[in-house]
Amino acid sequence: MSDWVSIIHKLRLKQFRKRTKFQLIFIQNMGYQIIDGKKVAKEIQEQIKKEVEHLKQLGQKVPHIAAVLVGNDGASETYVNNKIKACNSVGFQSTLVRLPEYVTENKLLEEVEKLNQNEDIDGFIVQLPLPRHINEQKVIEAIVPSKDIDGFHPINVGRMVLNLPCYVSATPYGIVQLLEYYKIETSGKHCVVIGRSHIVGSPMSILMAKNTPIGNATVTLCHSKTKDLKQYTLQADIIICAIGSPHFLTADMVKEGVVVIDVGITRIESKDSPTGYKLLGDVKFDEVAPKCSYITPVPGGVGPMTIASLLKNGLLAAKKEIYR
Ligand code: GUN
Repeated sequence: MSDWVSIIHKLRLKQFRKRTKFQLIFIQNMGYQIIDGKKVAKEIQEQIKKEVEHLKQLGQKVPHIAAVLVGNDGASETYVNNKIKACNSVGFQSTLVRLPEYVTENKLLEEVEKLNQNEDIDGFIVQLPLPRHINEQKVIEAIVPSKDIDGFHPINVGRMVLNLPCYVSATPYGIVQLLEYYKIETSGKHCVVIGRSHIVGSPMSILMAKNTPIGNATVTLCHSKTKDLKQYTLQADIIICAIGSPHFLTADMVKEGVVVIDVGITRIESKDSPTGYKLLGDVKFDEVAPKCSYITPVPGGVGPMTIASLLKNGLLAAKKEIYR
């Protein structure tokens, strides 16, 4: 990449982060568009807040969401705190259930059952990963599907596959909403999903292939056993990178005009940051962005949409729109 191109897109990313009106106009005239997840998430949260105010005016109860956090993993604490903060900012009631790292599986299952039975709680999540002595799948399956706002229960996953009303897990749901917001054509396109996790890659591959407005793509799901990954990514019109390996996707792996969605959020220590860490995406943004038509940044892309989508699921749960 020539020096001037590198300087321009570094400037562009810097300007995206500052986001003055002048800068956004400048940015939009330079080839690739940054998908601003922070902005879209804010709009969704404002809409949810209005709906909560409306429920209050009608004298109805506000949505009440709970999160279960086991142990003291720094990243999980941050994610759960952000989810609770977001609940509060839209007027939801929220409850945090904290359990120690050494909690037994039975005790955790009891807590899940209490939340299932608690009529005041509309929906809840158990933050993953769980400590190794706990069977994660058993815990997920203990959550009653009507309160499973993460959409991880096999009933919700199965209903998603069959196009039946369900909670779609928050990250894939957030990505679909971003593609919709930016009117990105998916029909007939080749979408390459990298990573087959239950939380992102697998559901994403299913959603992109569905006969829905954001869907109808020809999907290739790549994973750790894929041979010559680059032959697939080079053909892709849309790449959804959810592999959890920082700066994995490089410029030589993508074609001109590609849409890149970066799901990676690896925390690394950083003395320059007030939090003591910084987030790295799965995409080498500086070199990939100049080849893109659209790209999500990290942070400020998919991350904020995950939270906004969880709130959307919370509102659906409170309004009993999926399960009556
Ligand atoms: N860990 C990483 N992502 C998620 C998520 O979306 N929900 C839960 N419960 N745990 C996670």
